[in-house]
Amino acid sequence: MTEKIPMSTSRTIQSKLVLPPDTNHLGTIFGGKVVAYIDEIAAICAMKHANTTVVTASIDSVDFVSSARAGDVLELEAVVSSTGRSSMEVYIVVKSMNLHTGEWELTTESFVTMVALDENNKPTPVPGVFPETEEEKSLFETGPARREHRKQRIEMKH
Ligand SMILES: CC(C)(COP(=O)(O)OP(=O)(O)OC[C@H]1O[C@@H](n2cnc3c(N)ncnc32)[C@H](O)[C@@H]1OP(=O)(O)O)[C@@H](O)C(=O)NCCC(=O)NCCS
Repeated sequence: MTEKIPMSTSRTIQSKLVLPPDTNHLGTIFGGKVVAYIDEIAAICAMKHANTTVVTASIDSVDFVSSARAGDVLELEAVVSSTGRSSMEVYIVVKSMNLHTGEWELTTESFVTMVALDENNKPTPVPGVFPETEEEKSLFETGPARREHRKQRIEMKH
């Protein structure tokens, strides 16, 4: 597919309130809960890009650099950062805000690969992307190196 669409088409932002059932005995959010939010926003973002059903093919490493507490707000932002034939790499950044102080902290960043499926649930081509801002350019230009790294990781398993 030769069509290319701007990265801004897929940009998706979601806010979540951290509630007590989402937290562990220390009062901080379960990592698995954050990963579930990442997976959901990545799917929405990829579907906005491809206009098809998508599935998660892989989630790159997720490092939790700070923890959100009950009562904090999580803000997730996702964008399709590069594409293959049927796969889309989605970049997700998660920040948390303490509502009492107004302070923001980076919680985690991740890259997720989503694959577009046709009506027979087979991988189907997706449009390419092009960056418009400096941040998007940097994400886009480093995409091929991450793709190569992922390919090597998959090959090592087989
Ligand atoms: C992802 C999936 C659709 C790939 O299907 P496949 O028959 O292996 O298809 P292909 O080999 O043609 O790969 C299709 C694309 O997926 C990519 N891909 C496959 N496995 C991947 C992985 N582990 N990580 C990243 N990308 C992957 C390929 O590189 C290819 O990308 P491209 O078209 O841009 O070149 C298939 O493995 C699947 O359905 N997995 C289960 C998905 C799922 O249920 N996720 C929910 C969580 S369990």
